[in-house]
Amino acid sequence: MDVLVVDHPLAQSRLTAMRDARTDSATFRAALTELTTMLVYEAARTFDVEQFPVETPVAPTSGTRLARPPLIVPVLRAGLGMADSALALLPESSMGFVGLARDEETFAPRAYMESLPVDLTGHPVLVLDPMLATGGSLEHCCRLLTDRGCTDITVICVLAAPPGIERLRASGLPLRLVTASIDERLNERMFIVPGLGDAGDRQFGGM
Ligand code: PRP
Repeated sequence: MDVLVVDHPLAQSRLTAMRDARTDSATFRAALTELTTMLVYEAARTFDVEQFPVETPVAPTSGTRLARPPLIVPVLRAGLGMADSALALLPESSMGFVGLARDEETFAPRAYMESLPVDLTGHPVLVLDPMLATGGSLEHCCRLLTDRGCTDITVICVLAAPPGIERLRASGLPLRLVTASIDERLNERMFIVPGLGDAGDRQFGGM
């Protein structure tokens, strides 16, 4: 499994704002929006393109467009804050949704929503979730995609913890990971350390 860490200074400054416990929700959401733009931009570097003819005001030439704009799938709730910036960079893309909530005792994901195309054969998918902790949520989400025939998944995370990366790697799922940081570890509550807290609560308030 390929893992790309986007260590661009502008990405790291947004990540730092998100880590800071004093950052309020509005500023946190703005930093997540900007950081997602940078992560998706870097992830798209390897997307397939095709050439097509265009006419400038001066002469005919050859233009470039994405051969297959990916389906964008934010994992609710926290991935919602990444959806707008991904769609702005990929305006031809469609969007699907997966709703998962991690059980606070077992740490297993509980699925509460799924809105995806029936057949994803031949379609690349871009999954958005700020946090890869144990990896249970993203593994569940990616299995929903491969069950529909998907063989090309790019997962965009703000933070990834080593156990989550290992779990995704061991799953053998056809995916690559793009993140702004690989953090140290998980604590006993399965929170990423040093992390940024709960990305859903920090964007939208506690439940
Ligand atoms: C968080 C986060 C991931 C998941 C990561 O969501 O946004 O989806 O936990 O944990 P894992 O890698 O151990 O599965 P949460 O379940 O708290 O729901 P929320 O997005 O509604 O806050």
